[in-house]
Amino acid sequence: MASSFLLLISLLLLLLLLLPFHSNANLHKTRLRRSDLFSEPDVTTTADHSTPPTVFFEVSKPIVTPKSKPCSLLLLHHDFAFTYGKPPVLADYTPPSHCSFTKFSKIVLEWKATCRGRQFDRIFGVWLGGVEILRSCTAEPRATGIVWTVQKDITRYSSLLSKNQTLAVYLGNLVDKTYTGIYNVKIRIHFYPEEEGFGGNGVYSQKLGSAYDSDSRADLILPISRNLPLNDGLWFEVQNSTDVEFKEFEIPQNVYRAVLEVYVSFHENDEFWYSNLPNDYIIANNLTDTPGNGPFREVLVDLDGEIVGAVWPFTVIYTGGVNPLLWRPISGIGSFNLPSYDIELTPFLGNLLDGKVHNFGFRVTHALNVWFINANLHLWLDDNSVKTEAKLLNHIVSSPSMSQDLNFTGPDGTFLTKVTRSVSSTGWVKSSFGIITTLSNQDLSYSNSMTMGNNGSSQTVNQEIQFNTSVYAKKESSHVYSVKSLKTFPLYMYSNTKDEENGSYQSIANLTLGFNEKKTDGLGKVISSLKNVQNGQGLIVVKGHLVTSGLGSTQQDYRYHDDVQCYSRNISSSNYTILHDNVKNTCGEKQNSPESLRFRRWPIPARRAFLDSNLFVNNGRV
Ligand SMILES: *[C@@H]1O[C@H](CO)[C@@H](O)[C@H](O)[C@H]1NC(C)=O
Ligand SMILES: *[C@@H]1O[C@H](CO)[C@@H](O)[C@H](O)[C@H]1NC(C)=O
Ligand SMILES: *[C@@H]1O[C@H](CO)[C@@H](O)[C@H](O)[C@H]1NC(C)=O
Ligand SMILES: *[C@@H]1O[C@H](CO)[C@@H](O)[C@H](O)[C@H]1NC(C)=O
Ligand SMILES: *[C@@H]1O[C@H](CO)[C@@H](O)[C@H](O)[C@H]1NC(C)=O
Ligand SMILES: *[C@@H]1O[C@H](CO)[C@@H](O)[C@H](O)[C@H]1NC(C)=O
Ligand SMILES: *[C@@H]1O[C@H](CO)[C@@H](O)[C@H](O)[C@H]1NC(C)=O
Ligand SMILES: *[C@@H]1O[C@H](CO)[C@@H](O)[C@H](O)[C@H]1NC(C)=O
Ligand SMILES: *[C@@H]1O[C@H](CO)[C@@H](O)[C@H](O)[C@H]1NC(C)=O
Ligand SMILES: *[C@@H]1O[C@H](CO)[C@@H](O)[C@H](O)[C@H]1NC(C)=O
Repeated sequence: MASSFLLLISLLLLLLLLLPFHSNANLHKTRLRRSDLFSEPDVTTTADHSTPPTVFFEVSKPIVTPKSKPCSLLLLHHDFAFTYGKPPVLADYTPPSHCSFTKFSKIVLEWKATCRGRQFDRIFGVWLGGVEILRSCTAEPRATGIVWTVQKDITRYSSLLSKNQTLAVYLGNLVDKTYTGIYNVKIRIHFYPEEEGFGGNGVYSQKLGSAYDSDSRADLILPISRNLPLNDGLWFEVQNSTDVEFKEFEIPQNVYRAVLEVYVSFHENDEFWYSNLPNDYIIANNLTDTPGNGPFREVLVDLDGEIVGAVWPFTVIYTGGVNPLLWRPISGIGSFNLPSYDIELTPFLGNLLDGKVHNFGFRVTHALNVWFINANLHLWLDDNSVKTEAKLLNHIVSSPSMSQDLNFTGPDGTFLTKVTRSVSSTGWVKSSFGIITTLSNQDLSYSNSMTMGNNGSSQTVNQEIQFNTSVYAKKESSHVYSVKSLKTFPLYMYSNTKDEENGSYQSIANLTLGFNEKKTDGLGKVISSLKNVQNGQGLIVVKGHLVTSGLGSTQQDYRYHDDVQCYSRNISSSNYTILHDNVKNTCGEKQNSPESLRFRRWPIPARRAFLDSNLFVNNGRV
């Protein structure tokens, strides 16, 4: 890949020259990324309008909803044509008045889009009242058209949805004679009525318990994003390793819990940060325009100048990334619904409840241009008091221990990078619920081994991120809440690029991408478990900036279970065709149709939230 970097970058420059641009266009703002250079192989064939569009999708568990029909709202119907550098598209949101019910147990956002022709993958964001509710990437279209749908459980944003808001969508797209794809988008919200025994705020008499439920809805959500009007997304753009993007905020004085939800995506020189080369290697080999700074990145969140949490992001590969043929029709893990990361900030309430203005800062260790970052501050308010009290007891941030081993001669060599870091905080909050002490921990470890071979034309990356977080809350001697999340993000990437010396190059790539998360309670009992692994093998021949031929094959194994849902899917595709697709949605051995999802109608998460010390003795079960 390394030697192809040069080629890719020159192609990028060529492309920029070819585009009908705007001398005032700031290069980084073009959103043209390395993956964007690839395009549809069958695009040169005449579009056959009788062919039905190909359905693209990301494998994920279905959202568990009540049986009752939802009440639905079409919020936006828009064609995203030449939207680059224009303000986000806005729509008014008013809480649904046509529903026969006013309390909702589940709220689902639905993004449905079609596109035909040739177009790059585009990052986009959806904000409600400045609060980001979806970060996603578009699928790359075919000449014969594509359609895809993303559904996201947005119940945690309920408090926003109870008021009039402005919906904002930024999807910077460019359309010209060559890049013809216009994204036709419909955004809907489905509201499901409250149902006996089904999760939802009103169900629980104990407000505190539901506040600590992981699916709980905050009473107030503050946007930690840029403000409208902007000719751009509402996200902050972190451009280099010293860049810190700040946002001031103020919280009400009766908060008893605070969680910061962080959204990140990486682009251009850092789109494939995990394969970026060490600077020593780049200098020694006289490489220019090759993204460097090595393969380690972490997103740091500062509160009034002090680190309060870190995010070690999952390596999302967008739909044009590595080999675009790998992602048709099965999209990359997280590409249609990028993960966000929660940082428990309750221990810091002692510093925030003074009625004064505070600030968050966002930065990325070793960053290259560009990272899009913004956050939402979820706050729970004490109805029974106008002022809560709090104190930070302990705050320990280990400086990251980083080791780097470089061993190379000329363009070939191996690099080993290992990093660990931990952040820990403890604090108490006194509210009408009593004095609750919260302990929040993050333990992170990172390892990346990279090999350059074949005179610098092949690259192998083996990376694993472990991202452990835990939150324990206790009242005197009894536990209010206890959840530990263990995430692992394995990545294997092999690529070999051969320059054909005639303006054309061949690239083969093998890939393994995994997103695993296990959540356990205070007793170590599993609350939920996700194992999600994709393998891909691909070959492409690229001429100019067009994929002239190629093949992509993808296999995915997805397994999820929690107390109410079991879902697994083993699926594979090659050359746009699904080879096999095995879906299982029962917890036992038997297979069932997708309709017969096994819902057990009890609000387990909220019940789990009430583990007190006696219940620990009784096996921790309510
Ligand atoms: C919300 O918007 C609707 C429709 O524009 C309007 O009729 C209503 O008065 C607004 N409500 C508030 C509280 O502003
Ligand atoms: C880093 O980015 C910031 C924000 O764009 C810019 O002001 C600063 O000059 C950059 N620093 C370096 C060393 O490039
Ligand atoms: C890099 O450039 C320097 C100066 O132009 C030259 O002496 C050196 O041989 C070059 N190294 C490689 C690996 O091409
Ligand atoms: C560096 O790599 C070379 C070639 O693979 C190997 O012979 C040598 O032992 C390595 N050195 C170290 C210190 O690992
Ligand atoms: C994460 O937790 C698991 C299970 O307790 C442990 O084996 C692993 O070492 C932890 N990783 C880090 C970075 O603390
Ligand atoms: C390796 O690449 C360099 C620079 O591109 C070239 O000069 C050299 O001949 C290549 N060596 C081999 C063995 O192909
Ligand atoms: C040159 O380019 C064409 C594709 O345009 C390709 O088929 C051929 O294999 C390439 N390589 C050589 C050495 O001709
Ligand atoms: C790449 O994948 C192909 C096809 O599965 C396999 O034959 C080959 O050994 C793999 N190579 C590497 C380096 O992973
Ligand atoms: C997925 O299905 C394929 C084909 O039926 C099978 O060969 C493979 O072993 C399965 N993988 C897993 C992880 O079950
Ligand atoms: C991919 O499928 C198309 C038909 O859809 C076929 O023409 C082409 O030969 C296939 N490519 C490969 C490499 O199998």
